[in-house]
Amino acid sequence: RRISIIGVPLDLGAGRSGACMGPSAIRCAGVVERLEQIGCFVVDEGDLAVKNCYASSAQQPKSKLKHLDEIVKVNGELSTKIYEAVTAGYFPLVLGGDHSIAIGTLAGLRRMGGEYGLIWFDAHTDVNTAETTPTGNIHGMSLAVALGYGDPRLTAIGGGIAFFKPEHTVIVGARSIDPGERKFLKKLGVRVFTTRDIERLGIAKVIERALEIAAGGTDGIHLSLDLDGLDPRDAPGVSTPVPGGLSFRESLLAMELIFDAGVAVSAEFVEVNPTLDLRNKTARVAVDLIGALFGEKIT
Ligand code: ARG
Ligand code: MN
Ligand code: MN
Ligand code: MN
Repeated sequence: RRISIIGVPLDLGAGRSGACMGPSAIRCAGVVERLEQIGCFVVDEGDLAVKNCYASSAQQPKSKLKHLDEIVKVNGELSTKIYEAVTAGYFPLVLGGDHSIAIGTLAGLRRMGGEYGLIWFDAHTDVNTAETTPTGNIHGMSLAVALGYGDPRLTAIGGGIAFFKPEHTVIVGARSIDPGERKFLKKLGVRVFTTRDIERLGIAKVIERALEIAAGGTDGIHLSLDLDGLDPRDAPGVSTPVPGGLSFRESLLAMELIFDAGVAVSAEFVEVNPTLDLRNKTARVAVDLIGALFGEKIT
């Protein structure tokens, strides 16, 4: 398997700074070596250039779309990178960075013209728009944009062709949903597996169903994994922690099951914030999950 690693050191989409160090932390935790050990051919493209990184908490503008200009610019560049990687036969592995970078990743994938499913692993559902956002933080809007909703400057990234479809989109791990988001998800019919569903069904069943939704009748799936989907005990280094999340073991099994299905075509691991972490624990968890996603086995 040929993998193209793209770092996006952006944190302007979050309410506090630090996620811009996520790509470095994940590299320090040995992501390239781990993938090479299991036989992957890895090209590390390095990081995209981001201006004003670290600024999110220092110069917080009062706006419904904070730091829109820079976020539009970075995501436009990211969408091109993704398109080029997939066209060249690589599996793009994007390292974040706050979750607003999913806008660029998914825009790049949409440019491929096929129909892809989407597994959104997250404590949040990220379907706010300027009308519903309680914070103005664009990392809480990226899934809405991927589905075609939100500020025109965001939905236009990558050319605005064929958005992701709600019927092939599934959210796993949600436990913090804003009132406007709840309405939006109902209206569009996006399937959400909350932590309660996971508790009742078990993660294996949930992933099996998620794969049916995302991979059934599509050309493959994208995994957008926000580390805050995990419980803060296992992944403390995130900008917006929410208690009651998935365990490390559940998350690892989820990755193994996605690998076994053989349907993933691209992935991103986002929201690692080393300023809040403990001895790079969250980045190391990200590397363990990435290993499992690409077929690393215990025995
Ligand atoms: N729903 C909240 C908001 O819109 C939190 C979003 C957190 N998103 C994330 N990718 N961590 O601001
Ligand atoms: Mn989140
Ligand atoms: Mn279909
Ligand atoms: Mn998120």
